[in-house]
Amino acid sequence: MAGVVTQRRFGWVVLRGSPFVGKHGATAAAPRLVPVRRGNLCTNLTHVSGGRQLSTVSTAGGNGGKDGEGCVVVVTSGKGGVGKTTTAASLSYGLAQAGHRTCVIDFDIGLRNMDLHLGCERRVIFDFVNVIQEQCTLNQALIQDRRNPGLSLLAASQTKDKEALTQEGVTRVIRELQKSFDYVVCDSPAGIESGARHAMYLADEAVIVTNPEVSSCRDSDKMVGFIASKSRRAETGQAPVRQTLLVTRYDPARAESNEMLTLADIQELLGLEVLGLIPESKAVLTATNLGQPVIVSEGDDAATAYKDAVDRFLGKTVDLKFVQPKPAGLLKRMFGSSS
Ligand SMILES: Nc1ncnc2c1ncn2[C@@H]1O[C@H](COP(=O)(O)OP(=O)(O)OP(=O)(O)O)[C@@H](O)[C@H]1O
Ligand SMILES: [Mg+2]
Repeated sequence: MAGVVTQRRFGWVVLRGSPFVGKHGATAAAPRLVPVRRGNLCTNLTHVSGGRQLSTVSTAGGNGGKDGEGCVVVVTSGKGGVGKTTTAASLSYGLAQAGHRTCVIDFDIGLRNMDLHLGCERRVIFDFVNVIQEQCTLNQALIQDRRNPGLSLLAASQTKDKEALTQEGVTRVIRELQKSFDYVVCDSPAGIESGARHAMYLADEAVIVTNPEVSSCRDSDKMVGFIASKSRRAETGQAPVRQTLLVTRYDPARAESNEMLTLADIQELLGLEVLGLIPESKAVLTATNLGQPVIVSEGDDAATAYKDAVDRFLGKTVDLKFVQPKPAGLLKRMFGSSS
């Protein structure tokens, strides 16, 4: 194996000085993951992320929509269950709260969830598929958030399957939404099949949601490559879709003790600027059960982290929080972990 072994985690080796094996063709400076071979195990685990620089998003909203039209943002991941819908709900809510007219589209046909996150499940009469199949107008299907009138939802169908979406139909609906909204946020289903492809195809911006684990990074890397080569921007030779990284369910103490990938590891593996780092938080589930995006959960760390991510998305410089474990309390320091 060429390159310098810098870390070993979870049966994988991170090699420095060799190209990343991922699909999106990262630069030679990026490390790559290769499976650890038997008899090749490192005895000396190094926590190399401590001294590394993390680069956060440095410019506002990057690619706007075309000709003054709304910007299309896809929230995607490849892997399922990593926090895409949680993120799309909070990002959309935060953008609308900041005064930007925002529409969030649930692309998870047959498994809709966004209506629950926004607490409007009983108000869904018409959905995305009904609009595509011209069974209702777009206005009939849009649900305006009662707390935050700048935010509207186009819900997924609960009964149809993803084959009900056509690229032509999706394009027509998104182009129409771009005329009246500043941001059209597409909550992608998992995978890289048709639903996810439709969700990312027209994107100007992509938020790549990743958990601090190897499988999630690998699937995200695949999605990054997919967007770079199969989006409309790629096909038509426009400026590439701007892709940023949002790591969710992060536990800095476990990352520090090498139980999960660190943010610096993930950033280096995927080669993306960091939009946000969302800590593991019980408030996420509570918020979903209450029908509200976690960004409104006062005093919660995940809510703070989502607010910061929205600010970065809008071009503000905000220091990353929750990268390091919180200092132990006095009792814990005096009596150890049992107290
Ligand atoms: N920061 C977090 N802390 C704790 N739990 C979280 C966090 N983010 C997401 N979760 C939990 O992870 C689970 C999956 O979240 P979510 O539905 O947003 O993922 P998803 O990527 O949209 O899933 P799918 O691929 O099925 O659409 C949910 O139970 C959610 O409550
Ligand atoms: Mg989802």
